[in-house]
Amino acid sequence: MKKNVYIGDIFKNEEVAQDCFLMSVALHSSFPDPQPGQFVMLRISGISEPFLARPFSIYSFQRERAFCRIDLLYQVVGKGTQILAGLIKATQVEIIGPLGNGFDIPQSYVNLVLIAGGMGVAPLSFLAEDLQKKACSASSKVYIYLGAKNSEALIGVDKIKKISCTAAICTDDGSKGEKGFVTQLFQKDLKNYKPENTSIFACGPKEMLKALARILRGTKYSCQVSLEERMACGVGACLGCAVPVKQAKSAIGYKRVCADGPVFDINEIVWK
Ligand SMILES: Cc1cc2nc3c(=O)[nH]c(=O)nc-3n(C[C@H](O)[C@H](O)[C@H](O)COP(=O)(O)OP(=O)(O)OC[C@H]3O[C@@H](n4cnc5c(N)ncnc54)[C@H](O)[C@@H]3O)c2cc1C
Ligand code: FES
Repeated sequence: MKKNVYIGDIFKNEEVAQDCFLMSVALHSSFPDPQPGQFVMLRISGISEPFLARPFSIYSFQRERAFCRIDLLYQVVGKGTQILAGLIKATQVEIIGPLGNGFDIPQSYVNLVLIAGGMGVAPLSFLAEDLQKKACSASSKVYIYLGAKNSEALIGVDKIKKISCTAAICTDDGSKGEKGFVTQLFQKDLKNYKPENTSIFACGPKEMLKALARILRGTKYSCQVSLEERMACGVGACLGCAVPVKQAKSAIGYKRVCADGPVFDINEIVWK
């Protein structure tokens, strides 16, 4: 399996909320333009601990004159992200990517509805930014539902506010925006969106995506979800990230989140 490995230099790695960091990496300009929903595998150059690279969605991507800049938004949850949080400017990292399929951006939909829970804001705000750049939003309206467990964990609001879209915010404990889960906030508005001209995109914790699958079950809405599974190789070789998918005649098969995803049709996944 061919890997596109790029060596990048960190030029920013700041805590933007509690245990949440924004890392900007300068990469050689030969790094291909990523699609929203694609991800990278990131490793610190020259160290063997942690041995495996970690997957992160692309939060933002810019081409500068002599290099390109990739932004990653990450939550410290374990050993690897703890080490990343301590990295200083000019540290070299290895970036493999862009990987995965990314979101399929429809041309003819009127309502583009983005639903993000927690760190799910990373790929979805990149998608919103891209929709704006490509002027898809000229003929369509972009609606963003952003939820987190509390106000401290609500990340990316400033970036969303710069995008021309209608944004609705909620927290589980009501400390910012409406009180409740982001799927409940979306469900209240569902009647305003006609299935035939609405395309839904979602990313967040598995429980949130499961709840969304329940809400949309039996309806005609088109919905793409970006999944986050633990990954080892990130390029389709180890099968470590396989998820159950529906096949013909009620059979169940498996697809790799890294190589076949991370974006899937919500109805394809067996939610268990
Ligand atoms: C395609 C993709 C995109 C991702 N994008 C982002 C992103 O933009 N920002 C971000 O903060 N995180 C993202 N993640 C999750 C991120 O990769 C993990 O949080 C990270 O690998 C944890 O590494 P660690 O060494 O700190 O934790 P570990 O020590 O490996 O694990 C610590 C804890 O986190 C859990 N965990 C590890 N990986 C995952 C995972 N993939 N999903 C759910 N739980 C996990 C473990 O079960 C364990 O409980 C993404 C994952 C995938 C697959
Ligand atoms: S992580 Fe190895 S196949 Fe997906």
